[in-house]
Amino acid sequence: MRFTKKAVALLAGAALCLGLGACGGSRGGQQAGGEAGSIEKGATIGISMPTKSEERWNKDGNNLKAKLEKAGYKVILSFADDKPAQQNADIENMVNNDAKVVVVAAKDGTAVGPAVEKAHDAGAKVIAYDRLIMNTEAVDYYATFQLEQVGVLEANYLIDKLGLKDGAKGPFNIELFTGSPDDNNAKYFFKGAWDLLQPYFESGVLVSPSNHGQGVTKDFTVDDWQAISVQSWKTEQAQKDMESILDSTYAHGEKLDAVLSPYDGISQGVINAIEAKRPDMKPGTDTWPYITGQDAMEIAVSNIAKDKQGETVFKNVNELADAVYEMIIEIAEGKEVSGINGEFNNNSIDVPSKLLDPQNITKDNLSDLVKAGYITQERFDELTK
Ligand code: BGC
Repeated sequence: MRFTKKAVALLAGAALCLGLGACGGSRGGQQAGGEAGSIEKGATIGISMPTKSEERWNKDGNNLKAKLEKAGYKVILSFADDKPAQQNADIENMVNNDAKVVVVAAKDGTAVGPAVEKAHDAGAKVIAYDRLIMNTEAVDYYATFQLEQVGVLEANYLIDKLGLKDGAKGPFNIELFTGSPDDNNAKYFFKGAWDLLQPYFESGVLVSPSNHGQGVTKDFTVDDWQAISVQSWKTEQAQKDMESILDSTYAHGEKLDAVLSPYDGISQGVINAIEAKRPDMKPGTDTWPYITGQDAMEIAVSNIAKDKQGETVFKNVNELADAVYEMIIEIAEGKEVSGINGEFNNNSIDVPSKLLDPQNITKDNLSDLVKAGYITQERFDELTK
């Protein structure tokens, strides 16, 4: 909520400036720093992505690279194989190649701090891409999607499907997962969802009967999110965790009504576990739980078409690449970065942020992914047949 108030304050401040026409200069951190036109065409820009093994980061990295190359910049694009040390080495390599801007989607938002500090000290602008870089002043900008909104969309899907607003009493059995403990985003996703789901735990309509995370009850708080996290967002880890939940609590035909999953890869792990342990549960019937997700991965498109997954949160990474591309061009031209519509605190500073809107996708609007140019009709047809 604090964030929303700040965003409002920022907008109000901007309106005041327009009205008075006397707000030259800018708030600390919002000005590009260098003189006008300070980054020449042909200069190097570094893009450091966390891993190749998750679909989105390949799209993210390659989209941005293509746009920057088209505009005449040299690009170093690296993928860190989910290893913080590798990511730090990748960023050092960018600094050694005189990168003027370094764009980082952190594997570990805290561990990457020293590397971006070196980049910043060498005069590069640092942009946190999708995931915030924590505990350092060396972050100039952040671009991402409204983080809590992701969890809000997931929780509202479950609330809707279970009929909770219509007064359904349950109790409904739900199991909950959060993302990687080293990713600052994961807490925000959970906060968005938990703020909506917790009241139903309070009233006893939702229960989580397993001991996952030492038990999720009405007293569970957002700060406990790491107890139900999945290291590195891994499908295999989620599958293992879900298998032990099923073994301990659902081995005798007990009904599982819903699973809050924050990412399509985790949803896939959950689905694998259900298929392995509870063959009596059938997609498309009421024996199968409502399962959420995020990223509109190809596997999720297919799972949604087959009624295995109910929902995913679509983040149009083409738009995120556009947003960051515009930031870089404005920085290069020595202009003030436009489109800042919020700020996030990284335990050190408030980082000026560009926040885009995520979209809810279910079977009903699955083809919106084609309309958005995110997936081709041909691929969509292959995945959904
Ligand atoms: C991103 C999500 C993604 C997750 C796993 C998060 O930081 O914001 O879009 O699903 O990482 O890669």
